[in-house]
Amino acid sequence: MTGMAQAAVPADFDFVPRAAEIAREAGARLREYFLAGVETEYKGDVDLVTVADRTVEKLIKGRLGEVFPEHGIYGEEGTRERMDSEYRWYVDPLDGTTNFAHGFPQFCVSMGLEHRPKNTKPEDDGTLVAAVIYDPMRDELFTAERGRGAQVNGKPARVSRVPVLGEALLSTGFPSRKRHASPNIHFYHEFTLRSHGVRRAGSAALDLAYVACGRTEGFWEFNLNPWDTAAGILLVEEAGGRVTDFAGAPYRLASDEILASNGLIHGELIALFSDMFAGRDLSPIPTAEEFARARKNREQGTASSQ
Ligand code: IPD
Ligand code: CA
Ligand code: CA
Repeated sequence: MTGMAQAAVPADFDFVPRAAEIAREAGARLREYFLAGVETEYKGDVDLVTVADRTVEKLIKGRLGEVFPEHGIYGEEGTRERMDSEYRWYVDPLDGTTNFAHGFPQFCVSMGLEHRPKNTKPEDDGTLVAAVIYDPMRDELFTAERGRGAQVNGKPARVSRVPVLGEALLSTGFPSRKRHASPNIHFYHEFTLRSHGVRRAGSAALDLAYVACGRTEGFWEFNLNPWDTAAGILLVEEAGGRVTDFAGAPYRLASDEILASNGLIHGELIALFSDMFAGRDLSPIPTAEEFARARKNREQGTASSQ
């Protein structure tokens, strides 16, 4: 359960099938661009963007406007439409741009719908009610509707039953802006030593979708945006998982921290965040210099014993 208001959603809402069609069309365009190859531009230092990001956001904006003319749209590439509407789509037309630009086939379209009843204050969250994430390279469609469960290609999706961190596979991501300000490499190190491993596959929306369908047990990241997370959060919750901040407080779309899991390992994840933020209980590993010195000593020892 997130920190979002759980307002009544119309019983006959039917957003996912129509949004899924749009996501499939958008995904097909991404796939064409990917196979043809596109030029990369820089938004920032290592923050990439391509013609595919912009064209596909425009396509989604147009289609959503035709199908749900009263809905608002908040897109990564600048779309801000009808922001006072009762329903608002958070759209990432291409989540995984760095992968896309390098020819690494892990990226998706992500669309999450928030219901904001008329009395919702601008600073408050509404309720996430529909989610669609489409991976065009695997032709995988992840969908969820509030109260109706989550699906992968139409089949029920559930989080995994792995009960402990020591047997878990995790994922995370790193920012492409202000990279030197992120402490995440420390968490990457610590979680790697305490789990079956941490994947860094480059698409936060797919990372969340994979928690929802039990391919990983947990995911965390600093400084994501609502277009990265809105759809994935609902997927994880509807698949039986849990989404909070790093301290276990209810998640908000404007949160700087997201922690999603199968629920069973959530307590262990929060405890490790708490320990690490307090500087406790860290697993030492050699520095590169210490390692090089030890290697040199070993080599010299071997040479002198020959
Ligand atoms: C990025 C991806 C990545 C995450 C970055 C995001 P983009 O989104 O989700 O996995 O680590 O923080 O910015 O830029 O490819 O849409
Ligand atoms: Ca993104
Ligand atoms: Ca994007």
